[in-house]
Amino acid sequence: MKKHILIIPGDGIGQEVTTWGKAVLEQIASDNGYNFTFDEALMGHAAIEATGDPLPEETLNKAKASDAILFGAVGHIKYDNDPTLKVRPEGGLLGIRKGLGLYANLRPIVLFDELLEASSIKPEVLKGTDILFFRELTGDAYFGEKKRSEDRNTASDLMIYHRYEVERIAIKAFEAARTRNKKVCSVDKANVLESSRLWREVVQDVAKNYPDVEVTHMFADTVSMQLIKNPRQFDVIVTTNIFGDLLTDEASQIAGSMGMLASASIGDGTGFFEPIHGSAHDIAGQNKANPLASILSAALMLEISFGLKEEAQRVTEAVRQVLKHGYRTGDIATVNTDRNKILGTKEMGQQVLTFLKKSVLAEESKMSLV
Ligand code: IPM
Ligand code: MG
Repeated sequence: MKKHILIIPGDGIGQEVTTWGKAVLEQIASDNGYNFTFDEALMGHAAIEATGDPLPEETLNKAKASDAILFGAVGHIKYDNDPTLKVRPEGGLLGIRKGLGLYANLRPIVLFDELLEASSIKPEVLKGTDILFFRELTGDAYFGEKKRSEDRNTASDLMIYHRYEVERIAIKAFEAARTRNKKVCSVDKANVLESSRLWREVVQDVAKNYPDVEVTHMFADTVSMQLIKNPRQFDVIVTTNIFGDLLTDEASQIAGSMGMLASASIGDGTGFFEPIHGSAHDIAGQNKANPLASILSAALMLEISFGLKEEAQRVTEAVRQVLKHGYRTGDIATVNTDRNKILGTKEMGQQVLTFLKKSVLAEESKMSLV
C-alpha cells in the first residue's frame, strides 16, 4: 500500500502532538511493509508569520494532492484578546474545511475504562458510554454572511443551511448508526430557529429510508443537560456546526480530557484528521501536552481513509495498554492517587510506540507457534 500523508502541525502544542501521530503511522507502515510518504505544510498563526496568510495556497494545493492529512491545532492568544484583527489563525482551519469540502466531522466519544476516574462525572454514570458525533462542518453561522454596521455597533452572522447540506450529513449519520446500535439523535433548536426547522424536516425525510434505525429529535439545550445526566442513552448524534462545536467540547469531559479525543473530517475527497483540542499555548513547548488525541487521530486515518481497521485497532489497543500500566499526562492524571505515572509528551508518545512494537512481537510469536 502506498499513501502520501500531509502533516500540518499548526500552532502551539500542534507540533509536539503531531510528531507522535506521525511516529505511529511510520511504525504501522514499517511493521506492515506499507509505503507511507510524508510532507509538511503551514497553517494558522505559523503561516501568518511566514506568509501573511493563515492558509497559504501551497498548503491547500499540497492538501488536495495528499491521500490524508494529519493536523495539530491553530490559534494564538494574541488574536483571542484582540477581536479587531481581521486575519486570524482559525481562518486557516475554516478555509481548509471549505476548500476540501469536509462537511462531516466525526467525533467519537469513547471512554477507556482505565480513565473512568479521570472525569469529573461519576464513573457509574459514564461506564459504557460510546457516542459518535456527526458535526456538520461547512455551513451554519460559521460560513453565513457576516456583517458589521457602519457605526460598528451592530453585527450579525447569518445562520444558514441548505437542504443538500443537511441531507448529506444525515445520510452519513444514519449509515454509521446501521453499523452500531441503530439509534440517531438529531440535535437542533427547532422551537426557535428557522434553519433548525429545515434541519429537522430534512432529517425526518432521510429517516424514512432507514426504518431499521430509531430516530429521535432533541433540542440542543436539552442535549447539553442529558449528556451529563445520562450519556449512555446516546449512540449517534447528528447536529449543526455550532451546536456540534459546543456539545463535543462538553462531551470530551466524558472521556476524561480534551487531550483524549480524536476527530475525522470527511467529505468527497481527502480526509482530515485532528484532535479536538486547541493549540494550548499555556503549555506549548513544555513537553506537557497529551499526544494521545493525535495518535488516536492517526488511528482514525488508518481506518477511515485507508481501510486499515486492524491496524487502527492495534493503535487503540496500544493506547489502552499504556493507560492500563498507569501512564498519564497531566491532563488525565487522577487526583488523590499515587498509582499514576506522570509522563511528558515525548515519554507518553514513546510508551505508545513501545506497546505497538510489543503487539507486533506478540503476533509474530503467535505465528511461529502455529
Ligand atoms: C474545533 C475548533 C474550531 C471550530 C476553531 C479552532 C475554529 O473549536 O475544531 O472544534 O470552532 O470549529
Ligand atoms: Mg471546538
